[in-house]
Amino acid sequence: MSVSARKEFTGRHVLLTGVTGYVGQLLLAKLLALSPDIAQVYVVIRSKQSLSASQRFRDLARTSLAFELVEKSCHARGIDDHLGWIESKCTAVSGDVSKPEFGIQDMKALMETIDVFIHSAADVGFTNTFTDAVRSNLMGTVNALDFAKQCIKRPLFCYVSTAYVSAHQRFDTYVHEAVPVAIPFPAKVLVDAMRDSDARRIEACAEMMVEMKWPNTYVMSKACAENYVLDHHGELPLEIIRPSMIASAWKDISQPGWNKSPQSGATLCTYAIGLGALTIAPIHEHVKNHLDLVPSDYVCNVILAALSTRLYEEKKKSATTDSSATSRIHYAVLGKHRIAANIFFPRTVAYFRKHPMPARIRNPRVKLYSGKTFDRSVALRYTAPIKVLKALESVLVGPLAKPSQLLVGAMEMISKLFRVSRWVVEAEFNFNDQGVAKIFNSLVPDEREILWDNLGLLNKEEYIDEFCAGVVKLMAEEERAKAKTKMQIKSNL
Ligand SMILES: NC(=O)c1ccc[n+]([C@@H]2O[C@H](COP(=O)([O-])OP(=O)(O)OC[C@H]3O[C@@H](n4cnc5c(N)ncnc54)[C@H](OP(=O)(O)O)[C@@H]3O)[C@@H](O)[C@H]2O)c1
Repeated sequence: MSVSARKEFTGRHVLLTGVTGYVGQLLLAKLLALSPDIAQVYVVIRSKQSLSASQRFRDLARTSLAFELVEKSCHARGIDDHLGWIESKCTAVSGDVSKPEFGIQDMKALMETIDVFIHSAADVGFTNTFTDAVRSNLMGTVNALDFAKQCIKRPLFCYVSTAYVSAHQRFDTYVHEAVPVAIPFPAKVLVDAMRDSDARRIEACAEMMVEMKWPNTYVMSKACAENYVLDHHGELPLEIIRPSMIASAWKDISQPGWNKSPQSGATLCTYAIGLGALTIAPIHEHVKNHLDLVPSDYVCNVILAALSTRLYEEKKKSATTDSSATSRIHYAVLGKHRIAANIFFPRTVAYFRKHPMPARIRNPRVKLYSGKTFDRSVALRYTAPIKVLKALESVLVGPLAKPSQLLVGAMEMISKLFRVSRWVVEAEFNFNDQGVAKIFNSLVPDEREILWDNLGLLNKEEYIDEFCAGVVKLMAEEERAKAKTKMQIKSNL
């Protein structure tokens, strides 16, 4: 089999959710650069802060470094105005995935054209209530699948899941990508409970998952969503992609360490190490701890390679009488190349010692502790000082008051980070991603430069340095964006 991703997307109409997110923007840019003869990409965007979907998309195309890939590809084809070209290839559709039919008034035209439906939108926060996480991540996926099922052309449906749907299996894992995750109830039960606003049934579902050791509401909602699409995709061909912790781009973006995931545990932990606020990390006594920090550009390569090979196979199938729909699951992970915790933490500390952050509160350092020693350390370094400083709040006045509040805020943030992300550092996941090698091997050789998969060449130390640099840049951008929003709100008052 020799598949050309460029050809498979030629003339296709693609619908993409989550384009303003980290994966979505890079995926769109890579898709447009790879297959310029694509017919049209419809990007579903909700309006936000009085900006329409079209305005948000225009801003994204103008400011996101991801689109330098499109700029390069346009220049190579003699097109100077890459932004104009992007506008000619993409249509921004105002829609909210948490609403049935995305709240789009006239879906008919869309339903007649879509060949490929990529659902990447999600709320990736780890601290949402179960109901909020389920509303965004399960109900959003139910709405996406319902939408796709009404499309005339039986589109290929791609659901961007997470490798941590199996987070409850975190210590015994040799998790195979071909194996669907088993949740303690059919996801449809939870969908019905959400539709009936039945708080008791929703709570019961949450309790069952917590009992089975899923660590947070995000992975719980994603596991339910994956279960739902597997059970209900009906006649639609289905591709599920399971990325691990998506970190910086590795090869495709000119800015080393480019990262657009400010909320992710890896970003926040790294930033907190740089500030000198995170000084301990959990490891497990009985397993070799590793972190699966996968480059975002590789994740997009897996998605595009999986979809291209699938479009090719579906085309072959349509020439026969075989109309059966099948599902496939692929990991987009570092897998056997994952980074040992005892490399990640010392290298991160070394980076920030060499490139100190102006706002640091002390020299970065991280000690790795296991089990009860870690618990005691959290109590001693975070929980107890927070209590003391809070008790002193009313007494501390003048120049001491503000730093004390800032310190409490930082320590509370770290304690929360430990609560919601400890499991991912402490666990040992061994994701088996053999199927992915097959899909890459089936691509035509001249596209392997763009859709690369040679993770074995990743220099881990260099990648950690780039990730740290990217985190610092990202958090500075976030601060500037927050300040700008505040100014706008003030000037509107
Ligand atoms: N980041 C990771 O480490 C990671 C790891 C494994 C799997 N994943 C999965 O990969 C996918 C993409 O993640 P990401 O990192 O790109 O997330 P992200 O940067 O937080 O982006 C999320 C996207 O979803 C959109 N969205 C959320 N709720 C929406 C709604 N109700 N209606 C319309 N759009 C909505 C957001 O739009 P707004 O701009 O309007 O908010 C944004 O475009 C998700 O499915 C996630 O679960 C991510």
